Amino acid sequence: MTPAKGDLIDVAREAREGAYAPYSEFRVGAALQAADGRVFAGCNVENASYPVTICAERVALGSAVAAGARRFRRLAIASDASAPTPPCGMCRQALSEFGLDLEIESSAIDGTLAVWTLRELLPACFTLQDRGKGGAGE
Ligand code: THU
Repeated sequence: MTPAKGDLIDVAREAREGAYAPYSEFRVGAALQAADGRVFAGCNVENASYPVTICAERVALGSAVAAGARRFRRLAIASDASAPTPPCGMCRQALSEFGLDLEIESSAIDGTLAVWTLRELLPACFTLQDRGKGGAGE
């Protein structure tokens, strides 16, 4: 499945419906498109022990990596917020492992869109590439 530009957000919106967010009541859906066109969806999964919560973006990333994807093109995020929400710092770092050219689009509840690259959102990021390690997406 290779969704057209607008459709990736639709996949994220559908994924948001699956969010398990009884504590924050803030539902997030994500759709990550791999370089080969495959799309992996995720939603936030909260926990009574709050820090155990996993964001939608990392659920989608984990699912993609488990399926063998290592290079990614686009990430769409759909939240319940009144303004488009960028991925949190932990998710930015997780995504950066696979390359900084990722295009990220986020939709607010009313459909307002914002677009960034991961490079913009995570300048001077931490890598171990100077030790010849990591950077699976580059
Ligand atoms: N959340 C995400 O799923 N993605 C983000 O980028 C930011 C926050 C989730 C985590 C938690 O379940 C809820 O939103 C409130 O922080």
